[in-house]
Amino acid sequence: MLKRDEWLDLARKLDWDYSYVDEKEIFPEVPSGRPWLPQAVWRDWDEPYRTSYTEYVTNQHAKDASVYAVRDAVGRVEDAQKLDPSWLNALKLHAATLPLAEFAAVVGNLRAARFGRDSAWRTTAAFGALDEFRHTQIPLLLMHELVRWDAQFDWTHRFFHTNNWVAIAGRHLIDELLLAANPIEFAIGTNIVFETGFTNLQFVGLSSMAHAAGDKMFEKMVSSIQTDEARHAQIGPPVLKVVIEHDPAVAQYLVDKWFWRSWLFFAVVTGFAMDYLTPLAHRTQSFREFMEEWILDQFQRTLDEFGLRKPWYWPQFLSALEIYHHMVYASAYTYRATVWFNFALPGPDERAWLRAKYPRTWDLMDPIWERVTERWRQSGPGVEWYSHGATPVTFCDLCQLVLCGGTPLYNTAQTLAYEGRPYIFCSEPCRWIFQREPERYAGHKDVVKRILAGEAPANLLELVRHYFGLTPGTWGRDVVSGAYPWLAG
Ligand SMILES: [Fe+2]
Ligand SMILES: [Fe+2]
Ligand SMILES: [Zn+2]
Repeated sequence: MLKRDEWLDLARKLDWDYSYVDEKEIFPEVPSGRPWLPQAVWRDWDEPYRTSYTEYVTNQHAKDASVYAVRDAVGRVEDAQKLDPSWLNALKLHAATLPLAEFAAVVGNLRAARFGRDSAWRTTAAFGALDEFRHTQIPLLLMHELVRWDAQFDWTHRFFHTNNWVAIAGRHLIDELLLAANPIEFAIGTNIVFETGFTNLQFVGLSSMAHAAGDKMFEKMVSSIQTDEARHAQIGPPVLKVVIEHDPAVAQYLVDKWFWRSWLFFAVVTGFAMDYLTPLAHRTQSFREFMEEWILDQFQRTLDEFGLRKPWYWPQFLSALEIYHHMVYASAYTYRATVWFNFALPGPDERAWLRAKYPRTWDLMDPIWERVTERWRQSGPGVEWYSHGATPVTFCDLCQLVLCGGTPLYNTAQTLAYEGRPYIFCSEPCRWIFQREPERYAGHKDVVKRILAGEAPANLLELVRHYFGLTPGTWGRDVVSGAYPWLAG
């Protein structure tokens, strides 16, 4: 029998010359991506894992077996009921926004498995597609168990099928990044920016908090998923290297665009979870500290390694890192009935911690919480609507998230008229991305435009019930409905 090293490259690297069709007919530019280059240019494409199908199946089977062993031990409703109620909402936020996004990543990987320009790239992408299918199935299975106890967990599957405002923002990002991207944009946006960097926040950083919070199931699930991400993310570097050699401007643009878009997504998903929904005693670091350690250092190294520049918006990004997720959380807390999970009101201890972690900006945020707290004091516990907004808010025409860039003193909103239609953006980078590819984005209607067009109700309760798909049993509340010990008296 041949040894592994004797046959592996023959199986992975199986490109050949075409005799009766042109290369461009087999790999047209639209599905294959730009810059379009002849296969000879991609010939040295390689990645370090060099997995064979047999090895893949054996390893994945072992990983699944160990996830299911943990599930059998600690994955029952009774186990979830022992967890902190605030933490459970970090879980609901994760469960709704990520598993079905991973399903979209199956499609992105399959496109690369067909239109990637080197056979080893296509092989690795085929494994990537199988990975992402696993990343969809595992959380769907684990969360399904919890639906009969808490109907908000039903949003694990339901979320991306609704017109909830967070789902609209999520789809706007995920559809472009994972469903619609060609393999080159997918390799740079997903494999390099999203998977090499940002998934670490959720799958490594938040996993360490899950450990502290005693959520062994979450910890096991995401750390198992991350081992797959680390492997298929290796598709990115060899693609980026070739694109930089032949069209550095495209490479820089794709990195800049996807860093900004990924940042906004994780500022909400991981930012909320780390700085607000994880109980204070279990927080290991602040969201900003995790970003600095896990994203900025790594991103800087990637840029240096490939000779790319920092994105032009770096000063704006560093300012946003100090405050953006705090602004969105405050907005979302005061509109909590518009989402499918519950919110914790930061009390005196949490606010002191946030002040210590965000010394440059917390003075701007604290009065907001003082005001919300005062409203709770006046209403007493159980009266959700007294500390809740009453009219629909506005959204960014690029990221589709709430228009709350900047600080309470200075908002960073930007406007633009394009083909006679007015647009508004949360930030300069969002407007810049729109202007680079207006044909991609101009047709999309945010929630407010849907309301103005008569497609969605303007009354907030009607909007929540009939457009966002929520019911009094599933819409978000304060985790203890204002009954905080520190608030009484
Ligand atoms: Fe994944
Ligand atoms: Fe992935
Ligand atoms: Zn935006």
